[in-house]
Amino acid sequence: MVQFNLLVLHGPNLNLLGQREPNIYGVVTLENINHLLKEEGKKQGVEVSCFQSNHEGALVDAIHQAMGKYQGIIINAGAYTHTSVALRDALAGVDLPTVEVHLSNIYRREEFRHHSYIAPMAIGQISGFGAQSYLLGLLALIDHLKNLK
Ligand code: DQA
Repeated sequence: MVQFNLLVLHGPNLNLLGQREPNIYGVVTLENINHLLKEEGKKQGVEVSCFQSNHEGALVDAIHQAMGKYQGIIINAGAYTHTSVALRDALAGVDLPTVEVHLSNIYRREEFRHHSYIAPMAIGQISGFGAQSYLLGLLALIDHLKNLK
């Protein structure tokens, strides 16, 4: 039985994972990450859907469409983390439990990556564990949702 339907959102340039700055982001592809999340979801009795876009508006639309369909969101907004009031407002608007994840530790990097517009809308943030950040985020979100029941 599926306990929860969860949405994983990947922002700009994450489609290039595996070939993009592998010294920072590792060699795991987005397809691999989505597969890992879906498999872990199955073990946990959770249906995981994944969506990537390089377009801010498409991500805003995906957040809106999550209402009534998903019980929670895991988001790696990529560079939009640091720039997008629109994504922040979309998350505030749908008010779904959200976990923010990053492959790299954004606080060890350039100053402009230290600020997240997403963080105040999230239950919490996991940053710096590569593909594991997503898995940890998934487990944290499931745990949070179970405790709401
Ligand atoms: C990222 C960190 C962001 O600063 C960057 O723009 C990304 C990826 C991460 O997962 O580490 O695209 O969100």
